Amino acid sequence: MTAPIGIMAALPQEVGDVIARIQNPTTTKRARRHYTQGVLGDGTSATPVVVCVARVGKVAAASTATTLIQQFGCETVLFVGLAGGIDREQMVKVGDIVIASAVAQHDMNASPIFPKNEIPLLGIKEIPTDVTWSERLKDAALRCTTGTAASVHQGLVLSGDQFINSAEAQQRLQRDWPTALAVEMEGAAVGQVCFEHGVRFAIARTISDRADDEANTDFPTFLTTVAAPRANALLNALFP
Ligand code: ADE
Repeated sequence: MTAPIGIMAALPQEVGDVIARIQNPTTTKRARRHYTQGVLGDGTSATPVVVCVARVGKVAAASTATTLIQQFGCETVLFVGLAGGIDREQMVKVGDIVIASAVAQHDMNASPIFPKNEIPLLGIKEIPTDVTWSERLKDAALRCTTGTAASVHQGLVLSGDQFINSAEAQQRLQRDWPTALAVEMEGAAVGQVCFEHGVRFAIARTISDRADDEANTDFPTFLTTVAAPRANALLNALFP
């Protein structure tokens, strides 16, 4: 049997209607989360999937990714949702989509025992995403933004257990991670779990805010108005 693709997001709005689109759904509750299994798409593009709303932060994401892999046999995990744009050049704008080429935990710091930002005993700071699935996500992102003002970018995405909402915090990330495009709260945790299990992962994030002083109002507005339609467009393009 083909291994199902794990699809996860932090908040319900970030998966849109995808759970309702699953054919022959069965839902299992594990560790306070609901995992819905079934098939997305028709005919030759019909794909077995397991979808779960993970909730916010690295621990929630790591727990969910582990369950997708160990209990549901996923060999690929996709994460969709929102992120703050943080590139210094401000090319990454609200409404754009960032496909992660790699992820890193900006709040990992076991120095002086281990180098700052390195994952202790893994010996790396950045974890690369799967090239094939990132290309598929990029194609889907390009298809669902055609004819709109939104652009699609690919690059480093940072994760940490903080909502970044000040120019000062944004600038600190820009200084420490000059190539980073976006910041969120889960991707690098999924990345570490998948890396340690030898499982493919890829991440698509729509930019809801610029992680600056306006983020506290920009994020909730975007979450209620754009997150679900964007998730629907992206996942429909990925699993037609
Ligand atoms: N997700 C969306 N915007 C974010 C921000 N500014 N900080 C952390 N996670 C986010």
